[in-house]
Amino acid sequence: MHLERVAVVGLGYVGLSLSCALASKGFKVIGLDKDYEKVRMIEKGLTPIYEEGLDKVLGEVLDNGNLKLTQSYEEMINWTDICFICVGTPSRPDGSIDLSYVEDASRMIGKCLRNKKKYYLVVVRSTIPPGTTVNVVKKVIEEESGKRLTDYGLCFNPEFLREGKALQDIFNPDRIVIGCLDETSGEALLDFYKSFHGDNVPPVLVTTPTNAELIKYANNAFLAMKISFINMISQLCQNLPGADVKVVAEGIGMDKRIGREFLDAGLGWGGSCFPKDTIGLLKFGESIGVRLPILEATIEVNDSQISNAIALAEKLVGGVYGKNIAVLGLAFKPGTDDVRESRSIRLIEKLLERGARVRVHDPKALEKSREVLKNKVSYASCIEECLQNADLCILATEWSEYKGLKREMLEKLMKHPALLDCRRIYDPREFKGIKFAAIGLGEPSI
Ligand SMILES: NC(=O)c1ccc[n+]([C@@H]2O[C@H](COP(=O)([O-])OP(=O)(O)OC[C@H]3O[C@@H](n4cnc5c(N)ncnc54)[C@H](O)[C@@H]3O)[C@@H](O)[C@H]2O)c1
Repeated sequence: MHLERVAVVGLGYVGLSLSCALASKGFKVIGLDKDYEKVRMIEKGLTPIYEEGLDKVLGEVLDNGNLKLTQSYEEMINWTDICFICVGTPSRPDGSIDLSYVEDASRMIGKCLRNKKKYYLVVVRSTIPPGTTVNVVKKVIEEESGKRLTDYGLCFNPEFLREGKALQDIFNPDRIVIGCLDETSGEALLDFYKSFHGDNVPPVLVTTPTNAELIKYANNAFLAMKISFINMISQLCQNLPGADVKVVAEGIGMDKRIGREFLDAGLGWGGSCFPKDTIGLLKFGESIGVRLPILEATIEVNDSQISNAIALAEKLVGGVYGKNIAVLGLAFKPGTDDVRESRSIRLIEKLLERGARVRVHDPKALEKSREVLKNKVSYASCIEECLQNADLCILATEWSEYKGLKREMLEKLMKHPALLDCRRIYDPREFKGIKFAAIGLGEPSI
C-alpha cells in the first residue's frame, strides 16, 4: 500500500518535527493545529519551539511546497492517505492523563472519514495509557465515521524522540513499535516506514496496541528510574568523605548490562514527558488495582533532589535568605527551550520562598521562562551579567555555553565567589580556593 500524502495533527515538539522530517524526505505533508497563532507562525517559516536544525528544514519544506498548513480537518483528510495524531496528553490535577485532546482529534477525523472512499490509516503517536487506542480512539472514530476496522486502519505507534535531538531521532530511531489490531493496518504502517527509511529500516516490533502503549510508558518509567537510582547514590556520596558519584556512575556504567547513559546525577528529571508519564503510569496502575512501588520511589527521589540542592546551597553560603543568586540554565535540559516541569524553575521557586534574590540566564529558554517566573526574578542577557555581584552561582542546566566557566571569572564578577554544580560539569580542582560544592560529591577524604 502506498501512503504518500500525510497529515499530522498537533504541531508541537513531536508533530512539527515529524512534519518537517517527512516533508524533507519528499512526502507531501499537511500539518494541522487548533492553535491559530501557531499555524500562522509556522506558515511564515518561524518555529514556535527551539530544536536544532528545525528552522532550516522548515524553511526548505515550505519553499519546495512539501509542507502545507491548515486548520480544516476536512481539507486535511480529503487530501491525505494517512494521519498521525500528535496532540498533547497532559496530566490532570490528580496526575491521571487528560485524553480530551486525543478524543477531540479522533472525533474530527472520524467525522471527515464518513465520506472518504479510499482506505485511510490513522496512527496515534501521542503517549496514551494502555487501552486508549481501542477504548477511546477506535470507539470515537467508528461512532463518527460509521466505518469498521479494515474499512479504515488504526495503529498506535509510540514516539521515542528526545527534545534537542528530535530530527536526528526521527531519522534514526532505535526501533519502531507498531501496535495494531488487524494485519492490514500494521502492514500499511510498516510499508510507510520502509518508504521513509529506505535501506536503513530500524528494527521493528509489531504487537497489540495495548503492548505498544505500555512499552512507551515502561520505557520512560525505566529511564526515570535509572536517573533516580544514580541520584539516590549521589545522596549517599555527599555524606561519604572521598566519594564521587561521577566516578561511581562511570564504574557501574562500564557494566554492559547497565550502560552509562542516564546515569548522570543532578537535579533530577523534568520536561514534558517523564513527570507526566511516571505519575500517569502510577495512576493507571491504581485504576486497575496494581501498586507500582519502584515508580513511587523513583518520583520520591526525584522530588528530594531539589531539597538536596537547596541544602547544599544553604551550607555553601550560610543560608540563602537575602543572598543574590545567579542561576545558569532554565530549560529542562540543554538543546531545547522547553521549561515544562523544569527542575531549574522548581529550584528557583524554592530559593525565592527562602528569601533569595535570583537572577537567571539561559541561551534559549529566557522567553518561555518569563511566562512562568514573570517578575519574580531578574533576567540576564549574558553569563557575565548574570554573575555580576552575586553571592552564589548555581549551574542548573548543562548547556555547553556554561562549560567554559572559570574561577577567575567568578572572582572578578561575583561579590563572594561560590559555585554549586548541580549537573556535575565542572572539575572541582579548577575551583580550588573558592567555595565549591556539587551534587554527589563527598568532602575530600584527606
Ligand atoms: N515532547 C517530547 O519530547 C515527546 C516525546 C515523545 C512523546 N511525546 C508525546 O507526544 C505528544 C505530543 O507532545 P508535544 O510535546 O509535541 O506536545 P505539545 O504540547 O508541544 O504540542 C501539542 C499540540 O497539539 C495541539 N492540539 C491539541 N489538541 C488539538 C486538536 N484537537 N487538534 C489539533 N491540534 C491540537 C496543541 O495546540 C499543540 O500545538 C504527547 O502525548 C507527548 O507525551 C512527546
